[in-house]
Amino acid sequence: MRKVLKACGTGPPAGCTSRQRNGTSVRFFIDTADVAEIRDLAMTGLVDGVTTNPSLIAKSGRNFIEVLMEICDIVPGPVSAEVTATEYEGMLAEGRHLAALAPNVVIKVPLTPDGLKTCRTLSDEGIPVNVTLCFSAAQAILAAKAGARFVSPFVGRLDDVGAEGMDLIADIVEIYENYPDFTTEVLVASVRNPTHVVEAARIGAHVATIPPAVLRAMYKHPLTDKGLEAFLADWAKTGQDILKAKPASGQTAHDRKQQRRRA
Ligand code: E4P
Repeated sequence: MRKVLKACGTGPPAGCTSRQRNGTSVRFFIDTADVAEIRDLAMTGLVDGVTTNPSLIAKSGRNFIEVLMEICDIVPGPVSAEVTATEYEGMLAEGRHLAALAPNVVIKVPLTPDGLKTCRTLSDEGIPVNVTLCFSAAQAILAAKAGARFVSPFVGRLDDVGAEGMDLIADIVEIYENYPDFTTEVLVASVRNPTHVVEAARIGAHVATIPPAVLRAMYKHPLTDKGLEAFLADWAKTGQDILKAKPASGQTAHDRKQQRRRA
């Protein structure tokens, strides 16, 4: 049975930690390197950040640096860019290079000994780090101790191998809540469906990074479509147009207010 932690409201009730009080809403990042998709979804006002990875960059077929700079221009929130070196010195050099490209770049490093060493150095330099490829609570504890801004546990890939990805999210949130000095935020990654997002929010995870198709699927409900269709059919029978409609008196409340102001 999965443990469910209740997110606290905006006030500071007893039992709420500073982490809970600071987070007023679940944030949505978009998990893609497709600039057209990001531009389109950013217009919804629902996008708080972006995550990329080497596979997503390869899928875009574009130059990594160009894509990254375009994304950082579109979305002012955190944009994760992953290093591809596997040893400390190389990771550090790539991380510093990427971080210099835009103020909202977050450096993504894999959860390896060299990755966490890089995380500590970059974090100490004030460069935010997203520790990716996290598959256990033990790994998440290491990421927090290394000063990560985000840890990315992959729920979908855990589900794929028969584990319960969301149990890992609940475990990490619970553990982090025990230690106010852990400032790492839980970024739910490898999201495959709207239920993953709902569960992440139920548990109180700070961020979910969502593929565009999943974000679009979140709007959908057959009863919404059916209900709208019925409302519009009934409205058409009235023959009215909201923008042209006037009350029987011929005056709207706005007209009356204007009249009073003029008098
Ligand atoms: C995000 O940061 C991850 O790279 C991404 O969510 C992985 O998702 P996938 O398991 O669908 O490739």
